[in-house]
Amino acid sequence: MNESRVNEFPDKASFRRDLLAWYRANARVLPWRTAPTLYKTVVSEFMLQQTQIKTALPYFERWMRELPGFAALASATEARVVKLWEGLGYYTRARNLHKLARAIAALPRPPRTPEAWLALPGVGPYTAAAITSISFGAPAACVDGNVVRILARLTANDTGFRDSASAAKYFAPLANALIGTTNPGDHNQAMMELGATVCLRQNPSCIICPVRAHCAAARMSAPETFPRLAAKKIEGQKIARIWVLDAKRTAVLLHRAAPSARRLAGIFELPAPENLGLSEKDIAAKHAKKITEQKRSITRYRITEIFFELSPGAALRKRMAAQIAGSNGTLHWVPLGELPRVTLSGPHRRIVDAHFAKE
Ligand code: ADE
Repeated sequence: MNESRVNEFPDKASFRRDLLAWYRANARVLPWRTAPTLYKTVVSEFMLQQTQIKTALPYFERWMRELPGFAALASATEARVVKLWEGLGYYTRARNLHKLARAIAALPRPPRTPEAWLALPGVGPYTAAAITSISFGAPAACVDGNVVRILARLTANDTGFRDSASAAKYFAPLANALIGTTNPGDHNQAMMELGATVCLRQNPSCIICPVRAHCAAARMSAPETFPRLAAKKIEGQKIARIWVLDAKRTAVLLHRAAPSARRLAGIFELPAPENLGLSEKDIAAKHAKKITEQKRSITRYRITEIFFELSPGAALRKRMAAQIAGSNGTLHWVPLGELPRVTLSGPHRRIVDAHFAKE
């Protein structure tokens, strides 16, 4: 968005005032907003990168009890940090937060600018702007899908975007022109709050919107027309998962992705047939018993997972033993008594607790 488009937005100061007055009267009470500290802000922003507030809340409270500051987090083991994150998903966030605490603990004092925060692990432009505006009053705008939606509607901008990242880049100059210097942290949180509670993707509540007077899309009675984003291509995926015990029925076979894996590094899951050198046909032929199935979405994938209980005979046990021996440490027999202590992916933890853990 070039300067002239930025200047199309007429009264930035009165927009800011209306938004802030509404935020001060209506902001949800959240634990990282009450008596904020840099540490609370950093932990909450990492948790909220890919997680909704209501899911993050109990994790945040427990995290603060267990690891109350940068020093405590820096000296914790990675296993403990990841276990505390169990169920939140996107575990790279936990590992990066851990590394970040170690980096901060090694500095004489934490950096104060978005540029300096951008150099720290797990910190992208959104998080750098959120942390430094909230903690240090840096005039840096957070731009995510919520903010894009608000800005596209305020200006009734009908530019088409192929994805939300390019839309965010396009609207960043306007977001930064709107932020002002009086209270950038509250301004950013007010934009997030407006996007989450009023300027909704579908059925926005224009009637109660505090900045309706500034909104071109509301004047056209067409808020849902903006922004114009290409529809995401959704891809379906079917995955089988196996619950199999050792011959003595005291341990379960789990798969742990290698430390270098892009997803779920070091996190245990129930193995897929291919982890065990089996095809889905093998699974059917071995009379594996289907226990349950569940659907979930991750990024643009719609995943159906089907959980089987396998009772292998001697020949299959032999094949599995060879597979385990050659698995480079990714397949483990985990004693059933240890199961509560290992870090399982959130969906598998729920399935194991609901269907299998009573063994
Ligand atoms: N999403 C990301 N950061 C947030 C914050 N500080 N408050 C509310 N929602 C958020």
